[in-house]
Amino acid sequence: MGKVTFNMTMSLDGFVAGPNDSPENGLGDGGEGLFNWYFSGDTEVTMSEGVPPLKVSKQSAEILRAGISMIGAGIWGRRTFDIAHAWGGHPPGSPAFIVTHHIPQEWVKEGSPFIFVTDGVESAIRQAKEAAGDKDVMICTANILQQALKAGLVDEINIDVAPILISGGVSLFDRLGRGPIELERTRVVDAPGVTHLQYRVVKR
Ligand SMILES: NC(=O)c1ccc[n+]([C@@H]2O[C@H](COP(=O)([O-])OP(=O)(O)OC[C@H]3O[C@@H](n4cnc5c(N)ncnc54)[C@H](OP(=O)(O)O)[C@@H]3O)[C@@H](O)[C@H]2O)c1
Repeated sequence: MGKVTFNMTMSLDGFVAGPNDSPENGLGDGGEGLFNWYFSGDTEVTMSEGVPPLKVSKQSAEILRAGISMIGAGIWGRRTFDIAHAWGGHPPGSPAFIVTHHIPQEWVKEGSPFIFVTDGVESAIRQAKEAAGDKDVMICTANILQQALKAGLVDEINIDVAPILISGGVSLFDRLGRGPIELERTRVVDAPGVTHLQYRVVKR
């Protein structure tokens, strides 16, 4: 059985998007700089077939490729699905489980990479684990991460820290409720334009 992992880029002050994020303003006001490291290197990394490759540093490419090779399924919340325009049908992790209250019928069709889950995060993780087999399930939104952490279902947290302060927007850790959740740091890579952090969630 693989791990349940998390991966997102976060500003140094803890945001994954600025205020007023929308399908027309993907990373919110002032949030575009979060992804500078995706486009400022000389090494191409393909996240998903049918989508232009990222251009990152060699150090970041090594980390991204290792992560991609382990992804057996991904989980996102409905806001990211809508804001990303369903990645044009090429999600960066497949099958892609989308947690939502309302199923978008246009994506319920033969060959769709999306599976819509309306009965909560625990159900999404259970289904994604079944689909992933020995590979990892990757959670990629702030809202879903926090629900999964509260339920004790996350094994590993990967955060790419971008050198930017956004000072508002979508916070990665504002709804955890009562802590603490103990972590063990398992990796730090200081790459050009980004610091890659990895933590294991300690379970007792
Ligand atoms: N920095 C990065 O690396 C990065 C990467 C990707 C995206 N982003 C940005 O990060 C932000 C993510 O936003 P977010 O984390 O607030 O939202 P999200 O997780 O993408 O979506 C939240 C939505 O998912 C649905 N949902 C969540 N839990 C549910 C449950 N238990 N049952 C049923 N439905 C549930 C609800 O939508 P409904 O009620 O409408 O169904 C909820 O409003 C976006 O701005 C995105 O553009 C950043």
